[in-house]
Amino acid sequence: MNAYTGEVIKPELISWSDKEHSLNVDRMDDTHKEFTDLINKLYIAPDEEFRYLFDKLCNHTEKHFSQENELMLQTSFPAIAEHVDEHRRILAELNQFNKRVKKGLYSFGRAYIRDTIPQWFSLHIITMDSALAAHLKNRQSAAHNQAAASTLEIT
Ligand SMILES: [Fe+2]
Ligand SMILES: [Fe+2]
Repeated sequence: MNAYTGEVIKPELISWSDKEHSLNVDRMDDTHKEFTDLINKLYIAPDEEFRYLFDKLCNHTEKHFSQENELMLQTSFPAIAEHVDEHRRILAELNQFNKRVKKGLYSFGRAYIRDTIPQWFSLHIITMDSALAAHLKNRQSAAHNQAAASTLEIT
């Protein structure tokens, strides 16, 4: 319970669930777990810590998106343009809010974390990141089958 507003606060803003969030691509899942962990910490952080964590979230998200952009590029992901654009849009928003938070305008940053990020994250996972994960798994099994076929040819 928030002592000032009486509002009931959930202990976590985004509760990680394998069923809902896991894409079964380890490096993507690990990064997404770190992301949700940071969001949950931000949700309950006092102002000074919030400021530090918001900056950390911007850096982490930049790396998170670069990692996915790189994977899309390396594997010729067909929907790369839309996915990269969406990453760019969210990163620009985060950086805008970070500027406000650095000026001490915490309520803007808190509202963004509370009201926008959880819905965005769920939607991004079930649409764009799921499509990328499926593409990576298809490529992996195609490569595996190709390797198996060439082994059969040799023996
Ligand atoms: Fe992602
Ligand atoms: Fe993504």
